Amino acid sequence: MSRREEICVPGDEILRQREFMRLVREQSIGEIKKYNIQTFGCQMNENDSERLAGMLSEMGYVETENRDESDLIIYNTCCVRENAELKVYGHLGSLKKLKEKKPDMIIAVCGCMMQQPEVVEHIKSTYRHVDLIFGTHNLHKFPELVYNVLRGETPVVDVMDSAGFVVEGMPIRRSNGIKAWVTIMYGCNNFCSYCIVPYVRGRERSRSMEVIYDEVLSLAREGYSEITLLGQNVNSYGLDLPDKPSFADLLRKLDGIDGIKRIRFMTSHPKDLSDDLIDAMRDLKSVCPHLHLPLQAGSTKVLREMNRKYTKEQYIELAERIKSRIPGIALTTDIIVGFPGETEEDFLDTLDVVEKVRFDMAYTFLYSKRAGTPAARRTDQVPEETKKQRFDRLIELQNRISREINEALKGTVQEILVEGPSKTNASILSGRTSTNKIVNFRGSDDLTGKYVRVKISDVQTWSLEGVII
Ligand code: SAH
Ligand code: SF4
Ligand code: F3S
Repeated sequence: MSRREEICVPGDEILRQREFMRLVREQSIGEIKKYNIQTFGCQMNENDSERLAGMLSEMGYVETENRDESDLIIYNTCCVRENAELKVYGHLGSLKKLKEKKPDMIIAVCGCMMQQPEVVEHIKSTYRHVDLIFGTHNLHKFPELVYNVLRGETPVVDVMDSAGFVVEGMPIRRSNGIKAWVTIMYGCNNFCSYCIVPYVRGRERSRSMEVIYDEVLSLAREGYSEITLLGQNVNSYGLDLPDKPSFADLLRKLDGIDGIKRIRFMTSHPKDLSDDLIDAMRDLKSVCPHLHLPLQAGSTKVLREMNRKYTKEQYIELAERIKSRIPGIALTTDIIVGFPGETEEDFLDTLDVVEKVRFDMAYTFLYSKRAGTPAARRTDQVPEETKKQRFDRLIELQNRISREINEALKGTVQEILVEGPSKTNASILSGRTSTNKIVNFRGSDDLTGKYVRVKISDVQTWSLEGVII
């Protein structure tokens, strides 16, 4: 048996699911069935939604942006923070009337929220118009589950509590024609004390280098020039594979694939970012000079309680080492404010790291209690008001730094990959630098997908403005 076969879902299972796709497609011959997928959460979920879209296309469904005219609606959910869950419940509530008008419409919910038994029970009892519930570990069974719903078996509920294998060989329909996501590993072993991801995504499972290489090769042939490799902690890529390739080995294998000009990745846990990876980032031509390195908190005491396994000083030293070895690299981060027991002094440590490291950008979050995680059981939760005040102070500092870093780019020439009309103003184009900064500029639509050189003429906190040269 080749290594690739060992880690895949047995071919029989893929064949079974392909058979269900065929059966569903045959049922809808002569009518156009439409689907709508609403995705919450991280890029991992976006990538899973692309797999669902791939399966739906094979089943004869076409995509619609209009939820109300669809025959099948899927909510691919996230539970990393409470507000992500509340949004999903809001949507499900609002679908009740629509389902009364269109009883044949299929409403499906999947993703991380469904890996929590109490959520599944709540949906079953409160949102009785939901037809299909499945989890993150059995996404590949979607065709069979849809087939069962169409046969009248509702609600269909199928959630596995742990993942058995890495699924390969199912179709995918990508949402973006210019940049592609490639999941290189699933799950997380780190159990940061605030985080629910390891409970809902299972333990780390890496895809083999060969399978990833083949996927990137075929993306290059399809015309993609930028890929983003995804994993909750890409630095532990390969540890579960037979010959233990490292993430740097994977980058070295992917660098130089004809047509792939930019390779990005996320996320890197600071605790095990190796010098080998820093060297690979510096030396490999296609690997972009941008690193997302979540800090989470600046206080060593809070970091210990978060189970992050690095200190304030170690983080700062690592960031300095990366910046000195890869000049011009952009560093971005995630920060949580108001972890249980966080004092004003602890919070000042966070501000101090932000001042010292000078991130290009930070995603900032208010700590959110997640049932089942150790931090949620603590009795020293920080009052909401304190959290919000700290959050505002952090944002003010980070905005100033982001703007200062951007100001220094004024007058420089940057190569950008044009992504299409800007999200905020359709009459201008938008693209990104290799450091992942958004640049808005005037130009004709046919530049979309191409690389152009622009001179930076003005800057904002979150984006740059430029003129084509
Ligand atoms: N594996 C990645 C991303 C995990 S989720 C990583 O380790 O960086 C994305 C971000 O959500 C985390 O980095 C963290 O900043 C935030 N997050 C996770 N759990 C949270 C919680 N309970 N409350 C607030 N933010 C949280
Ligand atoms: Fe969550 Fe930590 Fe794993 Fe990231 S590394 S997914 S924050 S447990
Ligand atoms: Fe959310 Fe699941 Fe991603 S909880 S952040 S969608 S892994």
